[in-house]
Amino acid sequence: MNYDFHTCPDRRGTGSLKWERHAGRDILPMWVADMDFSSAPEIITALKQRAAHGVFGYTIPPSSTVDAVLDYLLEKHGVRVEAEHIVWFPGLVPAINVACRAFVKPGGEVLTCTPVYPPFLSASGFAGVGLRKVPLAENDGVWDMDFDALEAAVTPQTKLFILCNPHNPVGRVFPVGTMERLADFCVRHGLVLISDEIHCDLVLDDLPHTSGLKFSGVNGPAVVSMFAPSKTFNLAGLACAFVVIPDGETRRAFQRAARGIITEVNAFGYAGCEAALRHGWRWHGKLLDALRSNRDFLENFIAASLPGIRTWHVEATYLAWLDARDLQQKDVCGFFEDCGVGLSDGVPFGAPPGFLRLNFGCPRPQLEEALGRMASAL
Ligand SMILES: Cc1ncc(COP(=O)(O)O)c(C=O)c1O
Repeated sequence: MNYDFHTCPDRRGTGSLKWERHAGRDILPMWVADMDFSSAPEIITALKQRAAHGVFGYTIPPSSTVDAVLDYLLEKHGVRVEAEHIVWFPGLVPAINVACRAFVKPGGEVLTCTPVYPPFLSASGFAGVGLRKVPLAENDGVWDMDFDALEAAVTPQTKLFILCNPHNPVGRVFPVGTMERLADFCVRHGLVLISDEIHCDLVLDDLPHTSGLKFSGVNGPAVVSMFAPSKTFNLAGLACAFVVIPDGETRRAFQRAARGIITEVNAFGYAGCEAALRHGWRWHGKLLDALRSNRDFLENFIAASLPGIRTWHVEATYLAWLDARDLQQKDVCGFFEDCGVGLSDGVPFGAPPGFLRLNFGCPRPQLEEALGRMASAL
């Protein structure tokens, strides 16, 4: 089967969050993390079949979908989990917010590393608990955790560590040694480890993803690993995610906090998830080729043609983190919008002013046009 990563159906007027933000203006949206690619034909077929059934009542997780998840976790990530360890959720953002309510009592604190996906920073406030932010360290162009800073920041009130694994926005795949140190840190300080693994199948380099689940067990921390087919297979609008919590007490606390306020996953979410995990991998291989090629083009283009902008090598995700502080623009995001490119501003990620995030999950002509506009503006 031929897969098309060169064109995308026009998304304007489809209620696309990404495209509606700048509706009516000549601005290419390169911000929120969904891709301008059609989903895998295998997934579209499965969704059509589900629609053809014609009855859309309350839906519990079909056993075939649960089996697909168990096989996926074992085959792709080397972790064996039981069906009862899975908590289905309509998204990772609600799951992160529920985790803050479940594991941190009033007066307690959440710990995370910045810059990071903004809901990691807002969830603690919504739960009425504290937040400690520790900047990631950057050594010779490579991002890592700063364990000295983490040891200095953690307090007896700290109960939860939220990890972005791989990391949005810096695109880092943390090495297994870093993950081991982090697990040890969580055990010593009695922290529940939340591992957001939504980008784990978007590793572009030949690097192993280390699931937080590898550290769950008698000598490990309580681990809550969160997954979804939504980034990898471009299914964010289907609102289907699964949270894996092997420890029974931890899982029940999480489920209690969600009771009555979190909706069920819908019938199409399950159908899309199962089709992706069972039949989406050939498409996924071609997707990674397209993303790698876009990433290489982007990194070369920035070095050659965007003076005053620095970026880092993206090991995973389709998101590039840009340091545009040298441009000395008061509102650097607004500056690029005015020249026709819609980026994410870095400030909500916990970065100082002057940083941007660029989504390169789109057909090459769109990426070239956006970068060309940025080059003309500079
Ligand atoms: C790290 C991370 N977690 C979660 C999400 C969103 O998850 P969901 O759409 O399942 O709420 C994103 C979306 O960009 C993300 O980058």
